[in-house]
Amino acid sequence: MNTLLNDPHHGDLVIQSKTGPYTVRFGSAFAGIEGGLSPREHLIIDARVAQLYATPLRAALAGPSVLRIPATEGHKSLEQFPAYVTHLLEHGVRRDHMLVAVGGGIIQDIVCFLAATLLRGLPWRFYPTTVLAQADSCIGSKSSVNVGCFKNQIGTFTPPRDILISTDVLDTLEVDDVCSGLGEVIKVHVISSWSDVRALARDYPRLQHDRALLTTYIRRSLEIKKLRIEADEFDRGERLVLNYGHTFGHAIESATSYAIPHGIAVTIGMDFANFVSWRFGLIPADVYSELHAQVAANYAAFQSVPIPVDGFFSALARDKKNLEQQISLVLLRAPGQVFLDRYPNDQRFQDICREFLAALPASAASGAS
Ligand SMILES: NC(=O)c1ccc[n+]([C@@H]2O[C@H](COP(=O)([O-])OP(=O)(O)OC[C@H]3O[C@@H](n4cnc5c(N)ncnc54)[C@H](O)[C@@H]3O)[C@@H](O)[C@H]2O)c1
Repeated sequence: MNTLLNDPHHGDLVIQSKTGPYTVRFGSAFAGIEGGLSPREHLIIDARVAQLYATPLRAALAGPSVLRIPATEGHKSLEQFPAYVTHLLEHGVRRDHMLVAVGGGIIQDIVCFLAATLLRGLPWRFYPTTVLAQADSCIGSKSSVNVGCFKNQIGTFTPPRDILISTDVLDTLEVDDVCSGLGEVIKVHVISSWSDVRALARDYPRLQHDRALLTTYIRRSLEIKKLRIEADEFDRGERLVLNYGHTFGHAIESATSYAIPHGIAVTIGMDFANFVSWRFGLIPADVYSELHAQVAANYAAFQSVPIPVDGFFSALARDKKNLEQQISLVLLRAPGQVFLDRYPNDQRFQDICREFLAALPASAASGAS
């Protein structure tokens, strides 16, 4: 079990939101629901997590209102919501009830969107069970829902009341899902500073197996993100740099039909952004190489997934941050100096993109010309 409860480095983190403060607590797995839920609480849980943790969650899963949802992109599609709403209404949901989410980013997006819209809003609480959800998505208030094949096109800003993090539940994650979350950890460390980047590079090889160390990095990641989201909760200014790696990452996810997990695509996207920064003369070659060594280690297992070049460019052009013919990119001058700017989506830029894709292992980019 987690031994960090008395460690001052893992004390509560309070996030200030326009709707009031909310708290991230570090503790033992499923603390607060292991004894079961009250009739005013509705459990919405990743079906796989419910199966894996059937024993510690026995009382909670025997509660009066339990909705098990498989964590797939299809299940956070708008088309699925009538079934979720019907379940909750049939189980007597009221505005003063609580939705309790247990799972990763997919369950978070579903429950957050329900909490924002069902009965015009009700409170929710979150037990994140993936590295990505613990280190990144659990704070920041966002819900993002898919519509058909269009990913994350509908959403709200609706923070939970409380978040309870326990790395005890991460042992059952697939390695790819751990790396996916570590991609977001790397992202905020690059946004923060050289010292954060170099500390993470030193400890990275131990993170897969050392849960106490991982908890330290999860907390540090949330501290870095907290500064941005408190300054700009609604994503209009300072927070936009958290999209570092995402413009390219989303295009890679879309071009590969989501064969590459979100955080891994973001990791490739960061390498991409660093490469473009180098080719634009914003960073020297040695900075690119130092960062490349770290990010490439995190996406090594996915280097052989083909990235169709045409699909990549059409997805890039559709990015919701773009304005007219300009493309919005988060680039860097150094770790700690990450910025958003608009650039023409011209031949020069596209040649640099082709160069990056072609430099991936032979099979990684398909159709490169
Ligand atoms: N709203 C936001 O701020 C935000 C931010 C980033 C990403 N997202 C979204 O989050 C989603 C990705 O979320 P994710 O990476 O957390 O993973 P996920 O929710 O997609 O889960 C990944 C896999 O891990 C399994 N799983 C979850 N917890 C487990 C555990 N403890 N043990 C074993 N298996 C477990 C799931 O069943 C699933 O198979 C994407 O849809 C992305 O768009 C949302």
